[in-house]
Formats: sequence, structure tokens, C-alpha cells
Amino acid sequence: MITILIGYMGSGKSAIGRKISKRMNVNIIDLDDCIEEGENMTIPEIFEAKGEVYFRKKESEYLKELIESKQDQIISLGGGTPCYGDNMKLILKATPNVFYLKASIDTLLKRLVKGKENRPLIKNISDEELPEFIGKHLFERNYYYMQSHKIINVDDFTRKEVAVKIIQILND
Ligand code: S3P
Repeated sequence: MITILIGYMGSGKSAIGRKISKRMNVNIIDLDDCIEEGENMTIPEIFEAKGEVYFRKKESEYLKELIESKQDQIISLGGGTPCYGDNMKLILKATPNVFYLKASIDTLLKRLVKGKENRPLIKNISDEELPEFIGKHLFERNYYYMQSHKIINVDDFTRKEVAVKIIQILND
């Protein structure tokens, strides 16, 4: 069974995925990690050296590979993965278990202000401009995110609580 976690940067996809993986004893794969390993560069380095268009191309390629491997696994995607090319179609076809980790702009802001420099899309945006950027970006991306099979609100819940909720749904 494949479980896919999607959501904006800072929504907790990787951390929650790791918790689900431990509790269910299922392998976890992070698409960003796959890209970094495959390309032998960090995500910020790829953006810097090759640009976003190259990154998106690779992101789609590695996503296809992961999905085609059809192994039992939890896949945590990058924030933008569902929003480019045919990615969301592929994701929805791969499994009936696509979870959108939905966070409010306030929650995302609190989490993203720290460590901004490691996130190429927001590193050059000032703290003052960040709320408007996230608001607009999330609005555009929601079209894709909301196609998920299940929408999980992560505001006001710990990562452990969200993981437990997802496991309950998977076991139902
Ligand atoms: C991106 C999110 C990042 C990473 C890249 C682009 C995005 O992943 O894939 O920096 O477009 O939102 P996380 O959501 O894991 O931070």
C-alpha cells in the first residue's frame, strides 16, 4: 500500500511521514531526498546551479520512478510536486491514500520564518513580505492540494497526533 503526503513547505510532511513509518513499520521515502541523492546536490544547490525549471523536470522524473516501483511505502513529496505537469494525476492514480496536510498561513509563517535560507523559493523574501507571499502561493496551490483523498488539518495538533490520526484512517 502506498500512502502519499502532500502539503505546503513547513506543513510537516517529512516529520509526520517518519512518525507514521516507525509506528506502522513501513518504509518512508522523501522525494526531495531522492532528488538530492540522485543528483548528488542539495535542493538549494540544484536551484542555484541549474534553476527551477530543471528542478521541476527532475522532480517529475523521480516521482514517476517512485510511483512505478509500487512498493509498500509512505512517500512524502515536496510542497510544489503536485502543482506541476501531470504530477497530481499520477499521484491520485497511484493510491487511494493521498493526504493533504493542511496548515493555515499563520502556522506556516511561524514555521517558515526560521530556516528560510534553506528554502530556495522563499529565501529572498523579506519577513514582512512573507505572509502575503505564502497567502497567494497557497491560494494557487490549493487547487491541486484540495484534490487529495483526505484533508488533515495540522493546526493545533502535534506531529504525533497528526500521525496517529492518519494511521487510524489507514486502518479503518
Ligand atoms: C518546494 C518545496 C520543497 C522543495 C523545493 C520546492 C516547493 O520541499 O521540494 O524547495 O515548491 O514548495 P518541502 O515542501 O519539503 O520543503
